[in-house]
Amino acid sequence: MLIVVAGSSGLIGRALVTELREAGHEVRKLVRRAPAADDELDWDPTSGSIASGTFDGVDAVINLCGAPVQGKWTTELKRRMRDSRIEPARTLAGAVAEQGVPVLLCASSVSFYGNTGAAVADETSGSGAGFLAQMVIDWEAATKAAQDAGSRVALLRTGLVLTPDTGLIGVLRPMIRLGVGGRFGDGRQYIAWISMADEVAAIRYVLENPGLSGPVNLCAPEPVTNAEFTKAVGRALGRPAFLSMPKAVVRFALGEAADELALISLRVVPQVLSDAGFKFRHTELDDALADIL
Ligand SMILES: NC(=O)c1ccc[n+]([C@@H]2O[C@H](COP(=O)([O-])OP(=O)(O)OC[C@H]3O[C@@H](n4cnc5c(N)ncnc54)[C@H](OP(=O)(O)O)[C@@H]3O)[C@@H](O)[C@H]2O)c1
Repeated sequence: MLIVVAGSSGLIGRALVTELREAGHEVRKLVRRAPAADDELDWDPTSGSIASGTFDGVDAVINLCGAPVQGKWTTELKRRMRDSRIEPARTLAGAVAEQGVPVLLCASSVSFYGNTGAAVADETSGSGAGFLAQMVIDWEAATKAAQDAGSRVALLRTGLVLTPDTGLIGVLRPMIRLGVGGRFGDGRQYIAWISMADEVAAIRYVLENPGLSGPVNLCAPEPVTNAEFTKAVGRALGRPAFLSMPKAVVRFALGEAADELALISLRVVPQVLSDAGFKFRHTELDDALADIL
């Protein structure tokens, strides 16, 4: 297939481009600067449209755009988090509709479900509340033009992708090494995690499986609690992690982001992928961590 990827310079994008090329697909990258290679096409995600002809002969567009959600959540950062997702999704969906691309896969997040507590959420579950949940609802809604035009649109509701130096592991790793790492709050909140190998394999599976559309949860079949996750990172690093960081301290350190990122429970399962027969390489967190740490 001929595939165009937006957000290809990111963590998932780089791994996905490699995965797709190794599988024999032809990949072109949409870049927000002047193209510097034959496989690059320029675009302005805020413009609302993409030059006609850009998607000639393209079988699928994959959108992975979005500014980081880490950091102190100022009004400006929150605006950037939303705009960097919703505007590119709307621009791409409009162009996919206009230029007749058959397939659009759009990044999304398990944050859609809001705080699930101990209840299990799958793709049939409703949306939750909070800044991130509302952002994801609006992000997914921005793909409407492509859905209305009859393209196959899949919403890649991704959990925490495990990488050695970023996200939760990037925070925990140095702390655990110093002997001060521990669970957040009571540690009973769930984390829907996925290894990078499974993340990109699952995106390829959705791409190549014409029966898959709508929301698809990209997370391992067994979410773990924050306490289990922290202990597993400690085991992988050969350092015990038995401390806990009280909720008040987490909230002081992270502000509003504490309840949306660190203390939220996301007990989400990949029902659609499992029903479709996708085989995860990493179903056990310890195995996934052993491969990256
Ligand atoms: N990693 C995770 O654990 C995780 C979990 C859930 C959801 N997701 C979602 O999956 C997508 C990819 O994640 P990632 O971890 O690969 O993110 P990433 O490493 O931060 O990369 C995101 C890419 O988005 C593009 N981008 C950044 N700022 C932008 C802006 N203002 N406007 C338009 N595009 C912008 C950049 O690509 P270019 O420079 O090539 O344009 C960047 O490399 C994101 O939408 C993210 O929210 C990720």
